[in-house]
Amino acid sequence: MQTHEIRRRFLEHFVRNGHTEVPSASLVLPDPNLLFVNAGMVQFKPYFLGQEAAPYARATSVQKCVRTGDIEEVGVTTRHNTFFQMAGNFSFGDYFKEGAITLAWELITKSQEDGGFGFDPERIWVTAYESDPEAAEIWHRVAGIPKERIQFRDGKDNYWDMGVPGPGGPCSEIYFDRGPAYGKEGGPVADEDRYLEIWNLVFMQDIRGEDSPKLGFPPIGSLPKKNIDTGMGVERVAMLLQGVENVYETDLLRPIIDKAEELTGRSYGVEHADDVRFRVIADHVRSSAMLIADGVNPGNDGRGYVLRRLLRRIVRSARLLGADKPVMAEFMQVVSELMSPSYPELATDFKRIQTVAVGEETAFLKTLNTGSKLFDDAVSEVKASGGKTLAGSEAFTLHDTYGFPIDLTLEMASEAGLSVDEEGFRSLMAEQRARAKADAQARKHAHADLTIYKEFVDRGPTEFTGFDELATEATVLALIKDGVRVPVAEEGSEVEVILDRSPLYAESGGQIADRGSIVSSSGLKVHVNDVQKIAKKLWVHKSTVEAGQIVEGDTVLAQVDPSWRRGATQGHSGTHMVHAALRQVLGPNAVQAGSMNKPGYLRFDFNWQGQLTEQQKADIEAISNDAVAENFSVNTFITDLPSAKKMGAMALFGENYGDEVRVVEIGGPFSMELCGGTHVQHSSQIGPITLLGESSVGSGVRRVEAFVGLDSYKYLAKERALLAGIASSLKVPSEEVPGRVEQLVERLRVAEKELERTKMAAVLSSAGTFVENAQRVGKVLLVAAAAPAGVGAGDLRTLVSDIKGRLGSEPAVVVLLGNADGKVPFVVAVSKAAQELGFKAGDLVSAFGPSISGRGGGKPEMAQGAGSDPSGIEAGLAAVRARVAELAG
Ligand code: SER
Repeated sequence: MQTHEIRRRFLEHFVRNGHTEVPSASLVLPDPNLLFVNAGMVQFKPYFLGQEAAPYARATSVQKCVRTGDIEEVGVTTRHNTFFQMAGNFSFGDYFKEGAITLAWELITKSQEDGGFGFDPERIWVTAYESDPEAAEIWHRVAGIPKERIQFRDGKDNYWDMGVPGPGGPCSEIYFDRGPAYGKEGGPVADEDRYLEIWNLVFMQDIRGEDSPKLGFPPIGSLPKKNIDTGMGVERVAMLLQGVENVYETDLLRPIIDKAEELTGRSYGVEHADDVRFRVIADHVRSSAMLIADGVNPGNDGRGYVLRRLLRRIVRSARLLGADKPVMAEFMQVVSELMSPSYPELATDFKRIQTVAVGEETAFLKTLNTGSKLFDDAVSEVKASGGKTLAGSEAFTLHDTYGFPIDLTLEMASEAGLSVDEEGFRSLMAEQRARAKADAQARKHAHADLTIYKEFVDRGPTEFTGFDELATEATVLALIKDGVRVPVAEEGSEVEVILDRSPLYAESGGQIADRGSIVSSSGLKVHVNDVQKIAKKLWVHKSTVEAGQIVEGDTVLAQVDPSWRRGATQGHSGTHMVHAALRQVLGPNAVQAGSMNKPGYLRFDFNWQGQLTEQQKADIEAISNDAVAENFSVNTFITDLPSAKKMGAMALFGENYGDEVRVVEIGGPFSMELCGGTHVQHSSQIGPITLLGESSVGSGVRRVEAFVGLDSYKYLAKERALLAGIASSLKVPSEEVPGRVEQLVERLRVAEKELERTKMAAVLSSAGTFVENAQRVGKVLLVAAAAPAGVGAGDLRTLVSDIKGRLGSEPAVVVLLGNADGKVPFVVAVSKAAQELGFKAGDLVSAFGPSISGRGGGKPEMAQGAGSDPSGIEAGLAAVRARVAELAG
């Protein structure tokens, strides 16, 4: 019976029994605990846990599954597969043990003519969880299985959970006895090769905690309902129903082996070592295709890394079987034909799937070619010296320089009968990471070691083609990663690329480097982040490999990002305009001291004492923009230094120019400079130049900054919007904004003064009340009170003087404690007559000071200060009254 037919019968059986057919979920579900979907129940997890209401009480599915835990075992035995299909039926609080057992039994034992699988009931064995006699009883009662063929097992075998906290339950497994030729008597407990498990029925009822009931830990709770989750291995049933020895012989895998035989010229079933490779290919080709179909792409971590490993193992196995040409395209073709009847996406999406797989093959073949020789040499050396272990440093070089994943080295070494010093490898990796970090730090401080470039510097300069074209075919001369030469750089890596020719401008003369890319027809895509010149002539492209692999010796296309370049020419020509205008306005003493330009922006430093006036700035801007509007043509030519100087070309002091110099001339006498930069062809292409401001950058050096081109426009548009916003708030047309603002400022000033006066008047008007409430204490008239809230120290003094004045020539003491902004300003005044009685302002402060956490001082007639604790005002006043009473006798 064909595999597709087995799937069909399974689903039909359960649909007939009231189940909703649910399509397989993607292999890649957003579950952080799960690399790939590995069981049929995964997509139903929320229903089991009661997090969501199940839309149906019964469901059935055939789920695509990938398990990659024991990739190394694949092919070594015939039992492991990374991809398999799990057929299942599920009950969400509907039927339980008896229902599940009845339905399973019916399907496996019903005759093939009647739509079942037709297994001989006499050869079926089952197992049950050690503390689940109920399941055993049902098997005996419903299916009539004799007690001798029902075996009890512990949690390790007969409890199922997801390997993480979540749903779980005891299970019962169905086995088929393949006969004495396959192993010893005694049921599944005795031999799981002879008795092959085909179906697992899980009685999902528990919630598992951190520790699994598989190991005897009790579950931490019960699910809201009792559920059923079953999983039947489609491939295993196929192998039994097709009467073949193992799954690799079934109808959906064997044709891949046949194809591999055809492509490699070797035969399956002759030598064990070869057979392992054939099986690796059959298994991995299928898993890779299914993973790519579900959107996984080869990469360096997580799911992408698993896929990369699978694809690379296919390529290597084919190689070891003698394939000398690429094989992936044809393998993908076969698997698509085999699997698309059940998984139509393998046909509809075939082109993409094939392209992804072939791309990885192409990249990996290059790696293999370069690295394998090194590996072989290292192995021979170890063996010659009688060793058994490949040094960690070799594994490191293979990884770092040749892009060999450590798994590959481990596998290759084990095939060669060697082990690998993995610990040594890992410590070198750690060291390298630390070095790279330190190096990045050092680079920032420009201490990079340049010896590595010497060979290329000596070989001659990089040809710069970027004055004439934006894309140039070039050869990769060298790749440098973290300061070390490597023959290849993989996707995701940061690498310095040295080409024989390049259109990308390297940072110099104030112009920052072009951005661009390095690509090739084989899918390579490298982003160039920076270009620096070594020893003035070697272009080093600091890059990120975004797709594919860049390999030394490759022919590539280096290209400048055209819109970057357009901006860069505007920035640089704009700098020349501003420089020329500045010299017209300030005269020949304004000598260039430095500059920087990039798309949209420039800055220019020059020797000058003192600030530029508004008029000077406006003039510089006007002259620059006039020159833009003139649409001067830009000419560049090469000449010798003396001739250039005679023409009046401006050069930087202290700069070493070679025998030949390049002159950039804009508008004849308007601007002529020695310059190696990239420029517009006509000055109008610069677009508007907007001076942003002017500032000092050290003694005697000033800096102007400007926007050019579209950035200039954007800046102005923003300013305009700002002004429009203000105009609309002020409800006047834009041109009236300055007048209106001036008016407002004046009105505000007047209003503030007025407010001040009113406040003062209010404060003083309270003086009368204080006077009326003055207390007589002995001979003294005492005003000890809290000042109106909000009266500050200055006003308080005026108020106190006023009260004292109104109390006339009598002995008088005035103490006011204010309360403003959380502080307690205070003023104490003592009249002349009171002083004669022995009262001193300063002494009185010491009476109330502690209550308000305040200190202060002054003369006998007047003391002031402030405290910081307004809650002590009342206590302070009481204290001062007591002190006055005491002194007044
Ligand atoms: N979840 C169980 C298993 O994976 C039954 O589907 O075996």
